[in-house]
Amino acid sequence: MRVAVLNGPNLNLLGSREPELYGTSRLEDVRAAVEARAADAGVTLLWQQTNHEGEFVEQIQRLPETADGALINAAALTHTSLAVRDALLAVRVPFVEVHLSNIYAREPERRHSVLADLALGVVAGFGLHSYVLGFDALVTHLQARAV
Ligand code: DQA
Repeated sequence: MRVAVLNGPNLNLLGSREPELYGTSRLEDVRAAVEARAADAGVTLLWQQTNHEGEFVEQIQRLPETADGALINAAALTHTSLAVRDALLAVRVPFVEVHLSNIYAREPERRHSVLADLALGVVAGFGLHSYVLGFDALVTHLQARAV
C-alpha cells in the first residue's frame, strides 16, 4: 500500500512559524512520526511539500499513479483553492484532510474548508498527532476496502 502525504504552503517553516499555534515540531519531525507508523503498517510513504498552488495541483493529479490514498494538509489553500478542489474531484483518490491547528476554533475565514466534503474525514487540532491519527484512519479505510 502506498500513501502520499501532501503538505501545502508555509508548512516547510513548521517549528519556527507561529509556534503558539502550530507547535515546535518541524515538518521533518512530523514526517518521522508518520514514517514510523508507516513502517509498522508496511506502508510506503511519499512525502511532499510545496509553496506553490500549481505544483500542489500537479501532485494531486499524479496521485492515481503514485498512491492508493493521501493525507492532505493544504494549509491556506484549504480555505480558498477551487483549483485544489477541482484536482481532487478529478482524481477521486481517497484522502484524509489534516490540520495541526483546530481550524474550527480560529478566525472565521479559516473555519471553512473547500476540500472537507470530498475527504473521508478531517483531523484537526492535535498538532503532529493529527497526521498520525489521520494516517491510521486512512490506512484502516484502505485495508477494509481491500478485503
Ligand atoms: C493549517 C491551518 C491553515 O489555516 C493554515 O493556513 C496553515 C496550517 C494547519 O495545519 O493548522 O498553513 O493547515
